[in-house]
Amino acid sequence: QELQLNLEQIEKGGYEHFMLKEIHEQPTAIKDTYRGRMLADEGLIRMAGVDDNLERIANAKRILIVACGTSWHAGLVAEYVFEELARIPVEVEYASEFRYRNPIISEKDVIIAISQSGETADTMAAIKLAKEKGAFAFGVCNVVGSSISRETHAGAYTHAGPEIGVASTKAFTTQITVLTLMALKLAKQNGTISHTEFMTYLQEMERIPSKIEKALEGDEHIKMIADIYKDARNCLYLGRGFNFPVALEGALKLKEISYIHAEGYPAAEMKHGPIALIDEEMPVVVIATKRGHYEKVVSNIQEIKSRNGKIIAIVTEGDEEVRDLADHVIEVPETLEPLTPLLTTIPLQLLSYHIAVLLGKNVDQPRNLAKSVTVE
Ligand code: AGP
Repeated sequence: QELQLNLEQIEKGGYEHFMLKEIHEQPTAIKDTYRGRMLADEGLIRMAGVDDNLERIANAKRILIVACGTSWHAGLVAEYVFEELARIPVEVEYASEFRYRNPIISEKDVIIAISQSGETADTMAAIKLAKEKGAFAFGVCNVVGSSISRETHAGAYTHAGPEIGVASTKAFTTQITVLTLMALKLAKQNGTISHTEFMTYLQEMERIPSKIEKALEGDEHIKMIADIYKDARNCLYLGRGFNFPVALEGALKLKEISYIHAEGYPAAEMKHGPIALIDEEMPVVVIATKRGHYEKVVSNIQEIKSRNGKIIAIVTEGDEEVRDLADHVIEVPETLEPLTPLLTTIPLQLLSYHIAVLLGKNVDQPRNLAKSVTVE
């Protein structure tokens, strides 16, 4: 028993929980994801699974992304990134819906399955179905040799290292990293971005790990905010564009480990319903980074404020406008808009983590949840 405990402490590397360790591993994990693939000086992205099938993927009539949970959120981010950079139409679907709804799939479609474990039953079934209909199947998995990685025609591992915490953290940001590299590669192949833009993305991608380090420095401040809101019964998360899926992911993290009811919405949808929930008891986490709909998000914040909602805003370093409106601001470094999810996700992971710890919940093994869902 004691030996077992000591082993676990060693595995946690000095952190109180696996989740916290994995949150802090993200700068290294992302480097491991792009190492050997992204050669920023030479202006090259090498991904064997994409290179070997470049024509097939770059000429896809449509990319279909299937996944569940957090991996599905990474798929939504990828939809925005692929369409923005590579101009290939993308659809993202819950694997569990896709497999049971007789979807229209053609041989010119490419299906991407995203799965940390590579064992999720619904995602596996979706891939099998798409393959039967002639689509080319590409896997983005973390676990090497997993079922989905074997079932797909080609793929790219995230190389995040083992993720033990049931709440997915580093798997999410490394999935986004792999998919962004893939989008950039296809964009270059199809000539949908200029060489200068391509180079700018590679150079900025190299700065992401140190920018995540910077975002992680906000930990104490975030813990203080967690202490103020830990007894909330409900919480809203809002974001737009590339950060809409981040809002969904933030809400899922809070639900999973703290058992507080949380919902994520595209910020502009608020006025179509959720605004009715806002009162002085309701914390609203708003992703309001500069660029990309910034002014629109600021006006959403004003709407929340006029209804006395409590605003926790994720802003770009140095932001003054939102600071004047929000109850709390959490800063993240500036980056290119399509890469912002890699930074804005960090404070949301820490916020859920601290709330759950303060409530005394079992952060690494939340009730009713399993690390991989191998049943329907
Ligand atoms: C994430 O925090 C969840 N535990 C869960 O939503 C998970 O992302 C989902 O079950 C998919 O798992 P996979 O990536 O291993 O396929």
